[in-house]
Amino acid sequence: MKIAFVGKGGSGKTTLSSLFIRHLAAVGAPVVAIDADINQHLGAALGLDDDQAAALPAMGERLQLIKDYLRGCNPRIASAETMIKTTPPGEGSRLLRVQEDNPVFDACARPVELDGGTVRLMVTGPFTDADLGVACYHSKTGAVELCLNHLVDGRDEYVVVDMTAGSDSFASGMFTRFDVTFLVAEPTRKGVSVYRQYKEYARDFGVVLKVVGNKVQGQDDIDFLRAEVGDDLLVTVGHSDWVRSMEKGRPPRFDLLEDANRRSLHMLQIAADATYELRDWERYTRQMVHFHLKNATSWGNERTGADLAAQIDPGFVLNERLAATV
Ligand SMILES: Nc1ncnc2c1ncn2[C@@H]1O[C@H](COP(=O)(O)OP(=O)(O)OP(=O)(O)O)[C@@H](O)[C@H]1O
Ligand SMILES: [Mg+2]
Repeated sequence: MKIAFVGKGGSGKTTLSSLFIRHLAAVGAPVVAIDADINQHLGAALGLDDDQAAALPAMGERLQLIKDYLRGCNPRIASAETMIKTTPPGEGSRLLRVQEDNPVFDACARPVELDGGTVRLMVTGPFTDADLGVACYHSKTGAVELCLNHLVDGRDEYVVVDMTAGSDSFASGMFTRFDVTFLVAEPTRKGVSVYRQYKEYARDFGVVLKVVGNKVQGQDDIDFLRAEVGDDLLVTVGHSDWVRSMEKGRPPRFDLLEDANRRSLHMLQIAADATYELRDWERYTRQMVHFHLKNATSWGNERTGADLAAQIDPGFVLNERLAATV
């Protein structure tokens, strides 16, 4: 299952993604964790110290390798240079699987040991001075989108993505790449405004959107969220002393997390698992083609000097059976 955490800046995306990742590790599930925010905090939230977090390889700096590997021998993609973030896989492309070793994971993923298990962590990479005014930062998150479009995850496998604040992901097709999107919202008007915007974009693409209320202090907060987002409210999480201790650099054992918050994490897993039956690989593939064509005409064709529509393999549908055979 592919799961995104989105929401307003400071709402708790990184905190809740990291808790969910810790929960999955504790129940023994295979996890690829991805920090798709240019302000990289997921590593720290998973317990890495500053040096360890700084040493994480940036996906954005390994685009060439990622493209070369994923392109494989796909005859429709002439070179890595003509491969853009939305270039879809086709016959001959290489796919990624959650539990395998491959050159992309070797180059971009690092193991992080958590209570109960080890997860793979991948990071987009920080925004550097060199990026300012030169490359738009979408070229960095583009590496994540490219990987998601070539990734075939099965039941009981999890890819958890901590997304950038606000609705930047609408500029690409990134927001359609998930089985479920958890929108983290504080019980404030600003907190739910991002929800409204997301809901609007999501509607036409069949995006499954669930609200996770965060920093909720009492019934009034719950009533407010319920009134604002209705049945989209999945669970709420209160202030966590466990999180506060971790932020002080003294992470307690994960099994000491507050019971109510643990139950909320379990509910998130149940909600994510339930989306497996709703999966539609045909639609998933169609949407990547849709966004590829959009990007091709708006900037890709001009930038690469190629007709990027020709990269689309009309007979290709990404699915789990392919992952077993290709
Ligand atoms: N349930 C919680 N209990 C205690 N502290 C929390 C909780 N949720 C979030 N926080 C704290 O609130 C702050 C913001 O949270 P976090 O960094 O997870 O937000 P974010 O949405 O990822 O922010 P950004 O948009 O900057 O990436 C952090 O200091 C975090 O520890
Ligand atoms: Mg964050």
